[in-house]
Amino acid sequence: MNNAPIGFLDSGIGGVTVLKPTVELLPCENCFFFGDSANNPYGDKSDKEIIARCDEIVNMLINDKKCKVIVLACNTASAKAVEYLRGNYSLPVIAIEPAYKMVHDLNPGGFTLVMATRGTIESEKFNRLYYKYNNNKTVLLPCAGLADIIEQNRQDELRLYLENLLGDYKGKAENVVLGCTHYPLAKDIIKDVLGEINFFDGAQGVAKRIKSVLEENGLLNGSGVRGTVEFEDSSPDEKTRELKKERFFELLERY
Ligand code: DGL
Repeated sequence: MNNAPIGFLDSGIGGVTVLKPTVELLPCENCFFFGDSANNPYGDKSDKEIIARCDEIVNMLINDKKCKVIVLACNTASAKAVEYLRGNYSLPVIAIEPAYKMVHDLNPGGFTLVMATRGTIESEKFNRLYYKYNNNKTVLLPCAGLADIIEQNRQDELRLYLENLLGDYKGKAENVVLGCTHYPLAKDIIKDVLGEINFFDGAQGVAKRIKSVLEENGLLNGSGVRGTVEFEDSSPDEKTRELKKERFFELLERY
């Protein structure tokens, strides 16, 4: 059982930004990552649709892949489906959320931009977090289409999108919350547009949480042998699946 994989899910390859710090912190764990690119983007889907997709994927991760814990490496899925999943599965389900509390803890006086999908920003879960830690110097930026541009690696479009979205905040913004697991992959361009800023994302926190959940449940893999990472994508097209896999492992290597 302790050799069983940790199961990660995202709407695509973005969750690699959560997997990477996990592999660094827990090098002996086996990990299985599922990218639901046949159904992305999640950001514009209803709660019902996201719950149904997550339910199906988590079922597969538990029953076919024999995962020992589940990690929602997607802020949108976490915002909309975590309560349902925790209520319906006995396995630990670990979720990511926009790192807005981290801003409160580390630079509460700073002008802050929260970038996330529309689904995350409109969710009840995020709104509870936002009103709890609101510093009254925060702009919420629902980034329709941005995860998709990153997923498909459309670099020219990405720069243009970020210039249009963020250009007016240059010299004003101090903090940027990357509230979608795809967005850390665009950090360099965001920095080009905004200049020196503090980034906040929840991935390191999730990696630490996975470690403590494994410890608390006696599930740590103590083999001392380096774990494996497996990747699967839901695209019906084989070529696309291959390309996703290639990009995923390339990002895992260099992110
Ligand atoms: N990576 C996702 C997130 O963290 C979702 C992106 C999308 O499919 O819209 O929100």
